Amino acid sequence: MKATTIFSMGLVALLIIVVAGVIIPNPVKGLILSEAKASGYVEYTPMEAYDLAKTICTQCHSVERIKLYCPRCGPPFVAVVPHMQTFIDNFRKSKPDMEFTNITQPQAVAIVQVWNALVGNWETDFREQDILKLIGQYDLLAELYKTPVEQRPIEYALSMRDDLKIGHMSGQLDAQKDLGKKPGDNTKSTTGPNQ
Ligand code: HEC
Repeated sequence: MKATTIFSMGLVALLIIVVAGVIIPNPVKGLILSEAKASGYVEYTPMEAYDLAKTICTQCHSVERIKLYCPRCGPPFVAVVPHMQTFIDNFRKSKPDMEFTNITQPQAVAIVQVWNALVGNWETDFREQDILKLIGQYDLLAELYKTPVEQRPIEYALSMRDDLKIGHMSGQLDAQKDLGKKPGDNTKSTTGPNQ
């Protein structure tokens, strides 16, 4: 093949890519991108993960249910999310007229980080073998479970967002505001144990 032929073929290919980039409508691009994220090819940003968690996890119950969840209530979110996929599978059978969106593994990884950050992460309160058993086939969740929180981009970023926190941890900063004051500094209580 002559060099000019190869060159012009390259040019045509480039043209096709450019034209496709322009004419493929944005919603389709968005769909391709969200598909790529759900499959784990592209990472969710913390706020995308936040929106995703709220959408996926309110298909059967409200956020309230998640907000009320706590260390006393049961295992950490890394073990809860696979359990919810089981509910999705069961609901599909028992409610065939309703539609449920599955939770892919990369989505589960993002969603667990969101609720860990906003409601609480009590992974260290449970035995590793118990958690891994509940995680089951979700290899990516098992991997997440073994990753320190500082190295989980979504959880780490959202854990700084006190404005988004819900559940048993929210308002903790406020509640601790008066800690460490010397007795006597305290103007609001006159009947405290220091009397
Ligand atoms: C297919 C429907 C469905 C979806 C989707 C779903 N859940 Fe649930 N969830 C349930 C059902 C049903 C229960 C009640 C189970 C029970 O009472 O034992 C429940 C209960 C819960 C509880 C309370 C458990 C307890 O012991 O109090 C939490 C927390 C929870 N879900 C979190 C989530 C999260 C996080 C997501 C998103 C990943 C989610 N759910 C998505 C069906 C669903």
